[in-house]
Amino acid sequence: MSTSKSAQSQALFNRALDVMPGGNTRTTVWHAPHPMYAVSGSGCRVNDADGNQYLDFLNNYTSMIHGHANPVVGEAVRRQLELGTCFAMPTETEIVLAELLCERVPGFEKVRFTNSGSEAVMMALKAARAHTGRPKIAKCEGAYHGSYDFAEVSLDSAPESWGNADPNSVAYTAGTPKSVLNDVIVVPFNKPEEAERILRAHADELACVLIDPMPNRAGLIPTTTEYLEMLRRVTHDTGMLLVFDEVISFRLGYNGAQGVLGVTPDLTTIAKIIGGGFPIGAVAGSTDVMAVFDPRQGKPLAPHGGTFNANPISMVAGTAAMELLTPEAFDRLNALGDRAREGITRAFADAGVDGQVTGGGSLLRIHMTNVPLVDYRSARATAAQGAALTTVVEFMHANGVLIAETGLCALSTPMGEAEIDEFVDIFAAALKTTGQPRQAAE
Ligand SMILES: Cc1ncc(COP(=O)(O)O)c(C=O)c1O
Repeated sequence: MSTSKSAQSQALFNRALDVMPGGNTRTTVWHAPHPMYAVSGSGCRVNDADGNQYLDFLNNYTSMIHGHANPVVGEAVRRQLELGTCFAMPTETEIVLAELLCERVPGFEKVRFTNSGSEAVMMALKAARAHTGRPKIAKCEGAYHGSYDFAEVSLDSAPESWGNADPNSVAYTAGTPKSVLNDVIVVPFNKPEEAERILRAHADELACVLIDPMPNRAGLIPTTTEYLEMLRRVTHDTGMLLVFDEVISFRLGYNGAQGVLGVTPDLTTIAKIIGGGFPIGAVAGSTDVMAVFDPRQGKPLAPHGGTFNANPISMVAGTAAMELLTPEAFDRLNALGDRAREGITRAFADAGVDGQVTGGGSLLRIHMTNVPLVDYRSARATAAQGAALTTVVEFMHANGVLIAETGLCALSTPMGEAEIDEFVDIFAAALKTTGQPRQAAE
């Protein structure tokens, strides 16, 4: 359907401008000239304030794995609402979700809940420092790990700062202290030899390496086995911890991304799907490392408060959502992901337009280039590729399909083959209508 109506969203945005900077309270959802305001969602469809309906291939940036208003999750939340929503006491609800997570993932011996993925990453880095007594952390160039200042270093490093071969530590937020940049060592993604050299050179000071096994902002390119093996070997040799950020990639399988990859990190951060649509995050890992949070002997090495940590609403919603995610549910969703990726690849070929799709499982990302993508630098869109993608994304929005401006898409369990084919058809139409034909030289 066409989604050209926007008067109500425009009016809401005008009100928002009076009370929020730029009318915005989440940078990610800014959309020029103004965002469309959601009013409701059901299954894989979302309705906006002007009555436009969208097939939701974004699912609140991958978190709504069951789509919207899932009745099982809703019932669990309604029951808990009657009982109270948070207390200055722990509840059984947190034990239930922690047990579920520990049963699924062998590397999860202990779990600690936070309110977001950003907080989970912050606490994992603090835990690594507390456990090792070392000050620095290493991360991959271009990888997003939330809003913690150490974690966002070199998130959007640009060609002007690349200079020599090794990545620099580049500030993301204005005013980032130099000390933060000094304490973050940036390594190239999927380049095992270069990364190993850098890690070993700083080994005595490094508490951990933080890595997303399929970093979205760095291109949604899966980590190679060779790279992961290098990380496990180097961290083992040097005593630094291996921290997986599976905030997005936990949805790759029943045992998370680490189950798919066959690597057990020391710590893992998770969020998004484990909250069933409510705010959540968690750090999980070995009993030994997670002991830094243990308060039984007095002040822990890594104290961690949080008024809404393990609030019962997020716990029961998360448990209900995760229980629905059986191994069969993951298999089905991942097969739909394969169907979508095949459809996109076919559409690029049929239209004769440069492009490819990356990702795995129920996650995919569209790129307007044929260049082989291996890391952040190869996946960073040129101005022309960015403009081409914007045109495609705008066409899809106008024709009732919601995807991220970066080309990221995430599937949900209410989808079936019909919804995947609907998505592929509209994508194919977008390429045929707006695509630039492949250059003769290529
Ligand atoms: C890999 C990764 N880590 C951390 C975060 C931060 O999570 P949150 O938005 O819940 O703070 C995100 C969010 O998209 C993410 O993709």
